[in-house]
Amino acid sequence: MSRIQQQLLKLKQQHRLRQRRVVSGLDGSRLSINGKSLLNFADNDYLGLRQHPQVVRACAEAAQQYGVGAGASALISGYSDQHQALEQELADFLGYQKVLLFSSGYLANQAVMGSLCQRGDKIFSDQLNHASLIDGCRLSRATVHRYSHSDSRKLENLLLQHALGKATANTGQESFILSDGVFSMDGDVAAYTKLQQLAECYQACLIIDDAHGVGVMGKHGRGSWEAANAAQPDILIGTLGKAFGTQGAYVAASSERIEWLIQKGRSYVYTTALAPPIAAATRVSLRLIRKGAKLRQQLNKNITYFRQQAAAQGLQLLYSSSPIQPLMLGSEKRLLDWAEKLQGAGILVGAIRPPTVPEGTSRLRITLSAIHQQAEIDQLLEALKEAV
Ligand SMILES: Cc1ncc(COP(=O)(O)O)c(C=O)c1O
Repeated sequence: MSRIQQQLLKLKQQHRLRQRRVVSGLDGSRLSINGKSLLNFADNDYLGLRQHPQVVRACAEAAQQYGVGAGASALISGYSDQHQALEQELADFLGYQKVLLFSSGYLANQAVMGSLCQRGDKIFSDQLNHASLIDGCRLSRATVHRYSHSDSRKLENLLLQHALGKATANTGQESFILSDGVFSMDGDVAAYTKLQQLAECYQACLIIDDAHGVGVMGKHGRGSWEAANAAQPDILIGTLGKAFGTQGAYVAASSERIEWLIQKGRSYVYTTALAPPIAAATRVSLRLIRKGAKLRQQLNKNITYFRQQAAAQGLQLLYSSSPIQPLMLGSEKRLLDWAEKLQGAGILVGAIRPPTVPEGTSRLRITLSAIHQQAEIDQLLEALKEAV
């Protein structure tokens, strides 16, 4: 057997082989897979904007005007007036000097850590940060210190030992605290008050990736930091493939930092720009998010209803006020059995295994959306009851 064959076999034996499903259509909260219609509790379209008629129309109209793809990187000829307007509108919405669009959240994180965090710098990173942040740290030449999940005491100890603070101001080296805003596989929110206190005290720059918070949380939908009544993080990363229902990502920061990303962010410079129709569609999503209080209310109602009913059923969900509601099952085998039973009952839920999550913490990642009807949530609860 070749090395790869052996490794694939091992993944299979560990129940860790990932498989793609072929989706052939989407209709509100239902997906077609292999000719079967399934209720979708697996994606991140938290507000149901992916199929919103105004978003779809804006995308189609822009494709007529600009073509489908950007045709080149942003610094050659791929940057359109749609991109420029979206960046300005996002900066106004989030309250930052500047915003820069990326083709994906993964790429945004490579650029932020890869260019803003430099040799001699220190990054303090939550252990459960998303893989794209971890990979961004690997790309940077900074020294990375990981602290146990949301453990501000551990973080403070590390800062005490290693942060650069004022003493090194002359060397130009910097410290960064790096965290998901809403943790993507756990659904809990960063401990903002403590993170901001520590960032201030140790003169560190706070970087938050709020991929799962922007649009969904906070009175105005500005994200988990708004919901936590916190100040804006120094650097905010957000993705467009989740609550916005489109694709791509952005970084919001000072004009100076954005200029540096344009100059030195390799995953910005050396890749085709976000497709202009996607930028046009996202502008409409942003308008819907700005006046989306009702959508957020509906989503929160669904989250509360699901949590209450699940608790009454004796299901032990992790604590989460976000649309991400994980049900811990432990072993890969048990998780796959549950996921299969749910699929048999017409329901699709994310089955998350190591290495995405730590060993022994395989889980169903149930995600809720404003477009789920109560009867659909009841169907999910019933299927969960049967799967036990
Ligand atoms: C916290 C976080 N950051 C970044 C990403 C990557 O974003 P994208 O899918 O746009 O690459 C994700 C998930 O996909 C995420 O959960």
